[in-house]
Amino acid sequence: PAAGGGSAAAGGGGGDTITVGFSQVGAESGWRAANTKSIQDTLTEENGFQLSFSDAQQKQENQIQALRSYIAQGVDVIAFSPVVETGWDAVLEEAKAAEIPVVLTDRAVDTADESLYVSFIGSDFVLEGERAGTWVSETLGTEPINVVELQGTTGSAPANDRKSGFESAIADNPNVTVVASQTGNFTRSEGRTVMEGFLQSQDDIDVVYAHNDDMGLGAIEAIEAAGLVPGEDIKIVTIDAVKDGMQALADGKISYIVECNPLLGPDLAEIIKSVVAGEEVEKRIVVEDQEFDQEAAIEALPTREY
Ligand code: AHR
Repeated sequence: PAAGGGSAAAGGGGGDTITVGFSQVGAESGWRAANTKSIQDTLTEENGFQLSFSDAQQKQENQIQALRSYIAQGVDVIAFSPVVETGWDAVLEEAKAAEIPVVLTDRAVDTADESLYVSFIGSDFVLEGERAGTWVSETLGTEPINVVELQGTTGSAPANDRKSGFESAIADNPNVTVVASQTGNFTRSEGRTVMEGFLQSQDDIDVVYAHNDDMGLGAIEAIEAAGLVPGEDIKIVTIDAVKDGMQALADGKISYIVECNPLLGPDLAEIIKSVVAGEEVEKRIVVEDQEFDQEAAIEALPTREY
């Protein structure tokens, strides 16, 4: 069944306040800050929710602990954005046994039992990686190029999917070679540190593919510190399209961005209301994303929400 059975009986129906426990990944990036704001601004008392929010600081054990405490509290609905893909079955079975429906936001879990969650709303990360790879292949891969990759958090859905999507898009172009690939954990500081290492270990870097804007912005710092010009000596392609990334794109330091929309709060609120009302909800809701070059970034920036 698409919707979680037993949820209406859990106390949220009939105009009562809906209690929601939300476990966030962390505060690793501009994207995450915008995502947290969207959720907190939407799941308000005014809108009929009582939200318990916790920040897991990018640690799965913190998230599991948070989920267990929401189960113990007996919230109406649990929502969370899983830091990594695997290792959730036990705690999700506990939620199911307690008849608390679980909504996945932003990131997926890897499970053989899809009845452990009622709905998953978020972007198609494989497609994001493919779009980045297609742009690199078609725009820069007309001659031999060396790419270094800054991966997101090891084991996370966006890191796994953006890597495989990019690889499949460049697979048929022998000009494009990924010469090094390492995690920068989705943060600006680790992006900078890893890029410093790449600049020392690699003789010839043409392109940086960063799994998010923040790591791309860290790479810009490392490239400039090495006396090189980002956007000229080394091109940078990223995913997210948060304001700082879009500004760097408008300034010519980043060359291309594939969007990942973080404003999931309003849709999440609707899903939760439907689940509590005992209505059928879609198992997978894919968020639509755009792509930006310099011109599009300049046009979008003045009205950009995040
Ligand atoms: O899960 C979404 C990713 O997580 C964003 O692209 C990245 O910036 C964030 O840390």
